[in-house]
Amino acid sequence: MANKLKVAVFISGNGTNLQAIMDNCTESEVVCVISNQATAYGLERAKLKKIPTHVVSHKEFDTRESFEEALLKILSTYQPDLIVLAGFMRVLSNTFIGVYKDKILNIHPSLLPKYPGLNTHQQVILNQDKEHGVTVHYVTEALDGGPIIAYAKLNVAEDDTSESVSLKVHQLEYQLYPYVIEQIAIGRLQCQDDVVYCDNAALPKQGREWKADHGPKYF
Ligand code: GRF
Repeated sequence: MANKLKVAVFISGNGTNLQAIMDNCTESEVVCVISNQATAYGLERAKLKKIPTHVVSHKEFDTRESFEEALLKILSTYQPDLIVLAGFMRVLSNTFIGVYKDKILNIHPSLLPKYPGLNTHQQVILNQDKEHGVTVHYVTEALDGGPIIAYAKLNVAEDDTSESVSLKVHQLEYQLYPYVIEQIAIGRLQCQDDVVYCDNAALPKQGREWKADHGPKYF
């Protein structure tokens, strides 16, 4: 059997995306979970799956460089093929990103490039948007601005609130994120010089729309 893709997951909170990844990925395996928050519930989720966890609190470091050095030191013991940011609330520097160039993924709760940053659901409701969604992209130094792999849309109903759309977004995330990771694991997707390739053909800049009914061979 071919070796599985080794994935390190970075979290800061609940870790429901981590749960979806641990439960649904078969071609990749989570080799460690790192949190910058000791109280992140995702750490318990990982422990239940017997996956090693590490807490690296940014508050214990004077500089971002030293915080990231601590992260890199832990990672070097696992040699991950991919770093998956799943609700990790720290911005990574160019130096860190350079070490794992084209090997860091993020999931963002909006249809990028719309609404990078925080409070995406609130902005959708405030602006009375009719649609919302989620985007998976490679991480570059541009905040929520790296090459997009895929996005999934949902309709916003008149009576939706930021809480209710957040729930809908999470349901999409649980399907989309493991799916993308698996496509990378089986070698169909990769990133080079800020271009995402699928089966060696460049994807469009806005990525591909993913729909639940597309089936496993969508990309
Ligand atoms: C998700 O909505 C993800 O898009 C964003 O942070 C949230 C993490 O949720 N980056 P969880 O910790 O996985 O439940």
